Amino acid sequence: MPPQSAHLKGIKIVIVGAGSVGVTTAYALLLEGLASDIVLIDIDQNRAMGEVMDLSHAAHFAQARVRVGDYEDCAGAAAVVITAGVNQKPGQTRMDLVKTNYALFQDIVPRIAKNAPDTILVVATNPVDVLTHAAHKLSGFPVERVIGSGTAMDTTRFRHELGRYFGVHPRNVHAIIIGEHGDTQLPVWSLATISGMRLKDYCAQAGHPYNEEELEACARRTKEAAYEIIQRKGKTNYGVASVLVHVLEPIITDSDAIMTVSRVGTYAGVQDVAVSMPCKLNRRGAYQDVPLLLNEKEQDLLKKSALSIKKVIDSV
Ligand code: LAC
Repeated sequence: MPPQSAHLKGIKIVIVGAGSVGVTTAYALLLEGLASDIVLIDIDQNRAMGEVMDLSHAAHFAQARVRVGDYEDCAGAAAVVITAGVNQKPGQTRMDLVKTNYALFQDIVPRIAKNAPDTILVVATNPVDVLTHAAHKLSGFPVERVIGSGTAMDTTRFRHELGRYFGVHPRNVHAIIIGEHGDTQLPVWSLATISGMRLKDYCAQAGHPYNEEELEACARRTKEAAYEIIQRKGKTNYGVASVLVHVLEPIITDSDAIMTVSRVGTYAGVQDVAVSMPCKLNRRGAYQDVPLLLNEKEQDLLKKSALSIKKVIDSV
């Protein structure tokens, strides 16, 4: 049974969208013991009820309750996670989903904001950077209270790939992906470290080959992971659900964790765009950027990524 800290009692998390990402997030929240009240909102109430009935048999062990709700239930939520929308089909990019999912956001975001004007929005629906920007505009919330899961997912995959290549646990790999949660994302090689050492120094000290082609392959597999998973199983859900829970955790526990999440701001000179960069998270939301000392190539790639997102934002 997960530790049920006293201060977590009375923590309500609302998840809009009872599809695979939404219900896997609810399940992961239960297992982590991070909320005492989990509400699922979905247009298909019958399916949502089926998921809640099933989840309730897991909630039994977690001292939490899971229920079907409506937008009025957003009142008092510590955070509202938006997973609703269509997801990528084989061969589609995340940006291909923008028209359908933006239209959905025009309906659901004002309804959340009306019932929970002080909550924090956590956006997972793709294209997540464009929809994080849309949620900021449609809710009227300050930028720190509208967080996109963004490249927190890609950073997780990147650490997994580098950990496998170097033979170390991903938690010992400090390497991040920034920019678009999508095809223009970029790895920050210049700041990547293992056990506190730059990759080249680690390789020299550990007697591990420093092979740039292999390292680029790690970044490529990171960028292409979702495409391959979707090709094989039709969707992704476990990785992103765990990432969403790890975005929620510092918000719920007020713990100032730094994660590469998507937030509206100015990046590489591109204004009014949502891009993933390291950000401090606590009960106030994504409240402080952590500026990076990027090299010239990384700055240029970040600008290209921000411009690519901005172009789609301006098109909706
Ligand atoms: C993925 C989806 C969440 O990368 O964009 O798995």
